[in-house]
This record gives sequence, C-alpha cells and structure tokens, in this order.
Amino acid sequence: MTQQQSIHGEWSSKLAFIMAATGSAVGLGNIWKFPYITGENGGGAFVMVYLICIALVGIPIMMAETMLGRRAKQSPINALKALSQEAEAHENWHYLGWLGVTAGFLILSYYSVIAGWASAYVFKSLSGAFSGQGSAEIKALFEQFVASPLQLTCWHSAFMAVTMWVVARGVRGGLEKAVQFMMPSLFLILLILVGYAMTTGHYSQGLSFLFAPDFSKISGQSILIAMGHSFFTLSLGMGAIMVYGAYLPGHVSISKATLLVAGADTAVALLAGVAIFPLVFANQLEPSAGPGLIFQTLPIAFGQMTAGNVIGTLFFILVVFAALSSSISLIEPMVAWLIENHGFKRSHACWVAGAAAWLLGLGTVLSFNHWSEVKLFGHTFFELLDYLTANIMLPVGGFFVAIFAGWVMLREHSESELEMSPMFYEIWRILVRYVAPAAVFVVFLSVVGVLAP
Ligand code: PHE
Repeated sequence: MTQQQSIHGEWSSKLAFIMAATGSAVGLGNIWKFPYITGENGGGAFVMVYLICIALVGIPIMMAETMLGRRAKQSPINALKALSQEAEAHENWHYLGWLGVTAGFLILSYYSVIAGWASAYVFKSLSGAFSGQGSAEIKALFEQFVASPLQLTCWHSAFMAVTMWVVARGVRGGLEKAVQFMMPSLFLILLILVGYAMTTGHYSQGLSFLFAPDFSKISGQSILIAMGHSFFTLSLGMGAIMVYGAYLPGHVSISKATLLVAGADTAVALLAGVAIFPLVFANQLEPSAGPGLIFQTLPIAFGQMTAGNVIGTLFFILVVFAALSSSISLIEPMVAWLIENHGFKRSHACWVAGAAAWLLGLGTVLSFNHWSEVKLFGHTFFELLDYLTANIMLPVGGFFVAIFAGWVMLREHSESELEMSPMFYEIWRILVRYVAPAAVFVVFLSVVGVLAP
C-alpha cells in the first residue's frame, strides 16, 4: 500500500489502540443489551452460543478487520476500494464499506436514545430517587420516564451533541485518557454490584440461569440473536474496528490486541449478567422484561446498599462514558468518509452526520411511548432497527469481511500484516475462510427456515 499514515492521525501507542478498541467494544451492548437479550432468550444456552460465536467468529473477524484497516489506512469505503485494487479484485467490494457506514449510522440513532436513559439515571441516582424504593416503585419510575417523549428527546439530544463534540475533536483528543481510567473503574463498580448480588440470597439461582444451558429454550431465532450480538458487542461488521485499525501504527501485534479487547468485553458482559440476574430473582421480576431490565433492577440495589446513591451515580456515569466511547466509533467511519471524499471539515462532517442520526433517533424515542402500538411485522420501530442492524447488517458485513480477508486478499499480505506464528496464522486462516462464513451462513439459513425441521 502506498499510504504510510492515515490522514486522520494515528494512535500514540499500542496501548492507545487497545484502549480505543476496548472503548468501542465495551458499551451499552455489554451492560444494557446483553442482560436483557439473555433474559429474553432463556439464559444459559443462549450465553453459551454467544460465547462460542465470540471465540470462533468474532475474534478472527476482529483480527481481519483491524488488519484491513491498518493496511489501507483509510475509511472503510476507501479502504475496501484500495485493497480490492491491490488484490486485483472487483471494485464492488467497496459497497461493503457502504453497508458498514449505513449500519453504524442506524445504530447510533437508537444508541444515543438509550445512552440518554443512562444519563438521566445519573441524576435520578444523585437526587436519591432510588433510596429505599421497592421493585414496584423502581419499575413505575422507569415506566413514567420512558412515557415522556420530551424527556427522552432532551437526553437523546444532549448525548448526541456530546458525541459529536468529541468526534469533532479528532480520534486522539481526550479519548485515550478517558478510557484509561474509565475501564478499570467500571470493572470495580461491577464487582461491587456482584458483591451485593451475593447478599440477595438468589445468587446461585442467578448464576445457574446464566450458565446452566437448557437447550430446549433455544431456537434458530435466538441463535441468530446470540450471533448478531457477538458482532454488536465487539463492534464488528460495520467498519468501526477497521477505521480504528487504520489509525494503528505499523508495529503492533494485532492478534494480542484483539484477544485483550475481546477478553475485556466478554468479562464486562458476564459481570453485568452476574450482577443483574440475582436481583431479578430476588425481587420476583421477569428476566424477559426487555430493554428496561437494567433500569428496573440495578436501582433496587442502589436504593438498598450503603452509599447506594453515590455508587449508583458513579455507575451510571461510567455507563454513559462507556456508551460515549462506543458511539464515537459508530459514526467515525461516516465522518472519515465525508472528509476523504467530500472535502468536509471534520467539524462540519460531525454536525451533518449527527443531526441526521439525531432525527432518526426520534423514531426510537416515540417507539417507547406514542408509537408503542405501531408495529411492523409485530415489532416497534426501535425493535426493527435493532433487529435489522445487529442481526442482519452486522453479520452480513462480517461475513464479507471474512471472505475478503480469507479469500480475496493475498496470503502474503495477511501473513505480513498479522505477524503471527505459523501455527496461529493457519488457525486464523481456517477460521476466517471456513468457520466464520459458514457459521453466519448456516445461522441465516436456519432462521429463513431452510434447515428448520
Ligand atoms: N460494541 C458497542 C457496544 O457493545 C456497540 C457498537 C457496535 C459500537 C458497533 C460500534 C460498532 O455497546
């Protein structure tokens, strides 16, 4: 490749890349989405499928994405154009970049709304709204909150504005440092919550819900959701990791960085699950309560534990930060592309992309109140958007990334980028050429019903 360095700047170190990629991966997906989809899909067996997908599909594709980004040093659309030229392949490959940019934009639109919920909960916790409240009051509090389009819109707007402000400052400004202190703190608070969960008397019930697989509870549909989530939680299939890879200096070991990021991501999700499910059972709540699950469970714990207001406030602040470091990576591919191809200034690109995503987000706001009965194929606007992006667009994107890295890119190029030992390189190549694409394909087929009995 001709380009030595991305025009958008570079990470200052290997650690900075690991931090940024972890910041992208760890977010609402781990703390908000993983628990509620696990609850909706029956627990243990679902978690097991999710973990298998992370190991066999997610990690190899994450390595592939980072590698493609670092080799091309451009936004995903242009990266795929350049890399397909290099490999003498058809230039249609750049549509894969388009798919990713679109998916990131669509996800950001609803991600910002949910991050707005977490922001509102910072202040609820601070004001002592959870103190001594039982599960019924906490549930009512949440329901009243989401019933107000005005409140949701204000928080959504605030979160989107902050996201765009950070992205406008460029990939390195501030982000590296914020993530560095945020991740360990988030870990610590989750550990405190797990400690509290142990005192509920329902700890083992929570654990067995999460880890004892009951395969009768799993369907083709829930396998698709588990697989889709493995892409969502690792930020794969839409170019976020590719664009961060583009800012990666040449000498970093991609495989080690990837394993660290995927490990941290999985640990945060599992800790969140272990903290939440004992509370669900101790308070006779429904594991399948849906997107409100963490907002209806954790505040009960904050309301009862010592210094709960402070811990709750800190917890929601950290969730907002985790969401912020993910949301900036959702829009960075689009912003980088607007700069490269349309000569936008970074700040203008941010405001244009942000305003459009904000507008679309109003659909999600309304789907929790005025439009909650407006359904297409039995789903609200938010549910459809989430399903389309996480369960269809990201796996399709990841499938083609795997095909590109495994079949289109020349072997010597991937070998030299990845710099792994020959044995690990072979394992990666088998996973990315056969296992990952076949897994996505079979799961899609089984949902379409071709393989269903
Ligand atoms: N991985 C993020 C999370 O788990 C969401 C995300 C998806 C971010 C895709 C970037 C790209 O919250």
